[in-house]
Amino acid sequence: MKQIIAVLLVIVTIIGLIVVAFTVNQVGQEEARLKSDLLYRSTLLAESLKETIEPNFVNKSEIYLQGVIERFTDKERFAGLGIYDNKNKVIAFSSTAPEATSSATQIIVNAMDSDKVTGDFETQRGKKVYVLAVPLHDDKSVVGALMVIQNAGYIDDRLTEIWKNNLIRLLIQASLLSFAVVLLLRWIIYEPIRGLVETLKLARMGGPEQNSNMQTSSFFFRPLVKEISNIRNSLMEARISASEEARMRLEKLDSPWTAERLKEFVKDILKGRTIFMVSNREPYIHTKNGGNINYYVPASGMVTAIEPVMQACGGMWIAHGSGNADKLVVNQSSKIKVPPEEPKYTLRRIWLTEEEEKGYYDGFSNEGLWPLCHIAHNRPTFRKEDWEEYKKVNQKFADTILIEIKNQDRPIVLIQDFHLALVPRMVKMQRPGAVIGIFWHIPFPNPESFSICPWKKEILDGMLGADLLGFQTQLHCNNFIETVGRELEALINFEQFTVTRSNHISFVKPFPISISFPNGSEKQNHQNEKEELTKKLGIKTKYIGLGIDRLDYTKGILERLKAIEIFLYKFPSYQRVFTFIQIAAPSRTKVKKYRDFAIEVRKETERINNIFKAKDWKPIVLLEQYQDHTQIQEFYRSADFCLITPLHDGMNLVAKEYVAARNDEKGVLILSQYAGASRELKEALIVNPYNGEQTAEAIKTALELSPSEQTKRMRGMREVIKNYNIYRWSAELLKTITNL
Ligand code: G6P
Repeated sequence: MKQIIAVLLVIVTIIGLIVVAFTVNQVGQEEARLKSDLLYRSTLLAESLKETIEPNFVNKSEIYLQGVIERFTDKERFAGLGIYDNKNKVIAFSSTAPEATSSATQIIVNAMDSDKVTGDFETQRGKKVYVLAVPLHDDKSVVGALMVIQNAGYIDDRLTEIWKNNLIRLLIQASLLSFAVVLLLRWIIYEPIRGLVETLKLARMGGPEQNSNMQTSSFFFRPLVKEISNIRNSLMEARISASEEARMRLEKLDSPWTAERLKEFVKDILKGRTIFMVSNREPYIHTKNGGNINYYVPASGMVTAIEPVMQACGGMWIAHGSGNADKLVVNQSSKIKVPPEEPKYTLRRIWLTEEEEKGYYDGFSNEGLWPLCHIAHNRPTFRKEDWEEYKKVNQKFADTILIEIKNQDRPIVLIQDFHLALVPRMVKMQRPGAVIGIFWHIPFPNPESFSICPWKKEILDGMLGADLLGFQTQLHCNNFIETVGRELEALINFEQFTVTRSNHISFVKPFPISISFPNGSEKQNHQNEKEELTKKLGIKTKYIGLGIDRLDYTKGILERLKAIEIFLYKFPSYQRVFTFIQIAAPSRTKVKKYRDFAIEVRKETERINNIFKAKDWKPIVLLEQYQDHTQIQEFYRSADFCLITPLHDGMNLVAKEYVAARNDEKGVLILSQYAGASRELKEALIVNPYNGEQTAEAIKTALELSPSEQTKRMRGMREVIKNYNIYRWSAELLKTITNL
């Protein structure tokens, strides 16, 4: 739109300049013509009058002359006439004429002095007039002058009229031309390009209209259309053979999984049934900045994992609409197709009041269940009012799910995480035929730890409404089953890992979550990337260590910073050549513990930086900001090692993302033994995050690991993630749930 306005402005300006130039010229010519005409007429009349006046002037018959003047003024429609003697004294003056101004008198004097007809324009009583003076003679000598005053206002009127007419013409021309340009741009350029983009998009997404012929009425685009048509056909052929291949591999779960293969698999096993994904956190958050609405993908391991699955499978994702512009972009049913650039599934937003959010999310979920499940030495806080809100909001989610699945036969509902523990039971009670799974992304604690929760029984019972309960590790499954055994009346089958309660069987199984790998956006490292990054951050260093987390006390950030301090004391040769970059995305900032934690991290960074800092160098760069998936890639690719040391973590997908980003097979992962990921990524340097000395040693090892050893380890870890990526995770989960 901006470009069209710019084109129109240029066109209008050019036309405007042309019209103004022509008008100036036309006005000039017309003015010259009118003036010379006026001069001619005035002179002619003055000469004829002079013949009558001169003989009488000698006699100085003033009464006679006054009579002549009045007659002439009347007859010839002069503005005025005057007769002067050679001493500038008025002999006769028409009654209609204005007083002679000083400049008019000057004209008369000039005419008598030069003995020539003299004239000029001047303004009298606000009106433009032409004053002409003709010398009067007695024989040869000048005895006086005749002054003729003609109205000249009509000249300006005429010139103004020309300007007016031409400007109106300009306006009409500019409007018509702009209209024509807009139409032409639309027909010849915009519509054909839009059509091409649409067709390409459909071809890329494998949409239903991909077989339609590409056509364009625009002559200019025909060669382009032909080329694009060829590309599209090649794409379709590639897709058909990929899907054929995928279908052939369907039965073998352990061969590499891709989005394409998952799509085929889902078609095959779900046979048209829709997947309803449910979570607290939404995959796209819309925000308003001034007049602009933007969106971002939040920092959440759950979203990182689940989003690619939804992109591959389609369906509906029900989640809390938390962005300040979320309401502005949804339809009447609170739905929006996402990803916004290339819609593949529906996001159904649920709206919460401030009070609900405070009690259910900040309170019960983040101050109660989160510390309860993570052994990070932070006491959970349980408040009755938070629990009431938690129940209310869980019911709200359940009600929304029930509405959305109303017309679905055996719908598949996959509930994510600890925010919605009561939802499985709430839905199951109303729709026993719905197939329900819940996946617990965070650790599940042992029975002793869990027992302190005042509403432990309700939570366990709520979860057992699901047909399948997924956890990150076998240990978490064991903890859950043992806790149920201790807290509820239920039949437990340790061989099958099932819980039977009120005649309903729930299967409990580990499904270690993963990422989309390969994700198609892998970029090759380039030589100068590290230098460019350090330059951008304003630091000078040879080695880079990296930490990426939400600003959360479970992530072990303070312990990590302490390990950096120990490392620099222990191995001083790394001072001034090694910098640790900690990216910390602000998180759950309404919870006091999170705000206090952020302050502590800042203080600790400052303290360590003050000990070691030197000119042009500091040991720690703390970036307290959210970086999206694309921005983070250059950090991953530039880091000599990535330090992921949570005190307790269900899985930790940042560890997997770092490995996925290193297609150069370089770099080292240092990983906490308390992150679920350490069970799979065995080639990482595994550390106890509480042991600063050990972490410091691991940092030294990482920096001194030979390139061949780095490659060996990185290749091994990449192989693990490739073989067990998020597509396989969801295939296994869906296969299990549909086989129940
Ligand atoms: C963990 C949870 C996710 C959550 C994420 C971010 O990874 O398992 O469910 O989305 O933290 O936390 P937030 O409260 O911002 O959603």
